[in-house]
Parts: sequence; structure tokens; C-alpha cells
Amino acid sequence: MARRSMVAGNWKSNGSQQSNQQLLVELSELDQSALRCTVVICPPSIYLSTAKEQLPSAVKLGAQNVSAFEQGAYTGEVSADMLRDTGCDYAIVGHSERRQLFNEQDADVATKALRLLEHSITPIVCVGETLSERQQGDSIAVVLAQLNALLNTLNSEQLAQIVVAYEPIWAIGTGETASPEQAQAVHASIREWFRKQVGAAADQITILYGGSVKSSNATELFAQADIDGGLIGGASLNAQEFYKICNAAG
Ligand code: PGA
Repeated sequence: MARRSMVAGNWKSNGSQQSNQQLLVELSELDQSALRCTVVICPPSIYLSTAKEQLPSAVKLGAQNVSAFEQGAYTGEVSADMLRDTGCDYAIVGHSERRQLFNEQDADVATKALRLLEHSITPIVCVGETLSERQQGDSIAVVLAQLNALLNTLNSEQLAQIVVAYEPIWAIGTGETASPEQAQAVHASIREWFRKQVGAAADQITILYGGSVKSSNATELFAQADIDGGLIGGASLNAQEFYKICNAAG
């Protein structure tokens, strides 16, 4: 069975009620029937409910983060069951911005992924190296160490349900994209890692690439054997551009 490709738009902490609604209107005006991949939109959490009402039915809703705790006395946190309640099918965890700016550790990322799975939400687990780690030739080692950290928390059945997004930190929001060959080399190592953990189910794991994906480079990236689509930041804020990227994922 061929893997289904996926394109997820990460709106990050951008926009307003009005501009996000406008973006949703523009997205729903585009021909959804032509899309062959799973499309996910991840708005800021405050706008999830409105987005759920406005999204075309073919487009899935995702969150950008989740609490590591179940609901309770955790001021400011949004729990996995609340995300499920709001209609989320996906949630990003361990984005490099959360790791770097909010000090999220590998163990936090693993716990968050577990919380999501417990509530039938697919975690999109982000991994990726810094520029200096790449320059030292450590890209694959760094990414595999981030994945290994999941093993303390998730069993192999749970691992087989996650989506991974390889996002080299030096490529995020910089306009500099990993070349298709650079990205494919890391993606192939990620799939090999999964083969050791989950056997043949590794062939069904969705591995996304993220980092300055645009309609002009998406086709070449998505054509690589182990790149199953993209996690899109800046370009997901423009409906036409995002739609073109979705169309590049077959
Ligand atoms: P970018 O962001 O597409 O703007 O580089 C990707 C991401 O952070 O998920």
C-alpha cells in the first residue's frame, strides 16, 4: 500500500481573527477535489474552534502544541482532550521554536506525543539539527538522538502512529532550503530507524520535510523517495501558494 502524502500548514503565532478568517475563506474557495494528499491546517490555539467551523471538510485541523498534562490546575495550558474536543486530528510537538525558545526537552516532547495518542490525535513530532551541528557532520546523529528519546515513553505500536517532520533549524524561516539530496539522506535514516523499531510498518510512516518550502521547490523535495510531504510555515499564510504546495504532494 502506498503511503499517503501530507501537507500541514503551521500558521505559528501569526494573524488576527479577521486575517485568519480571510485566509480560511480563500482556502475554502480553492478546488479541494483536486487534492490527493492529506491537508492539515494548524492555526493558533485561540482560533481552532472558528477554524474548525470554516475549514473545508476535506481539510484536517491541527494544533501547534499541547500540554504535557491532562486537564487540571495548569494555568495557560491546553490539554489533549480539549484539542480532541475542538476537532483536532493532529498536533505539532517539539517544534524547534518550542525547543529553543520555551526550553522544551526531548522528554517533554515524548510525553506530549503520548498525551495526544491517548486522545486519538496524531502527533507531528519535529526533529532537526542546528547549522553548526550540520557543519560538524552531525545532522543524522542529532535527529536520531531526538527520535531515540521517544523510546522511553512510546511503545512500538504508538511509534507506528506518529508523523515525523524533519526540519533543519537553519532552514526554518530563512529562505534557505535543504537540497532534495540533503533532505532525502536524513529522511532515509529516519525511515531506517523506524524499521528497527516497528519493522515493515516503517514503510507507512509519514515523514515530512519542513524549512522554507515554497511552491517553487516543493515538487523536487516531495519527489524524493522518503519525503512524504511538508510542514509549511511562512508559505502557508498565503492560500494560493499553500494550495500549490499541496498540489505538489502526490
Ligand atoms: P518555514 O517554517 O516554512 O517558514 O520555514 C516551517 C516550520 O517552522 O514549520
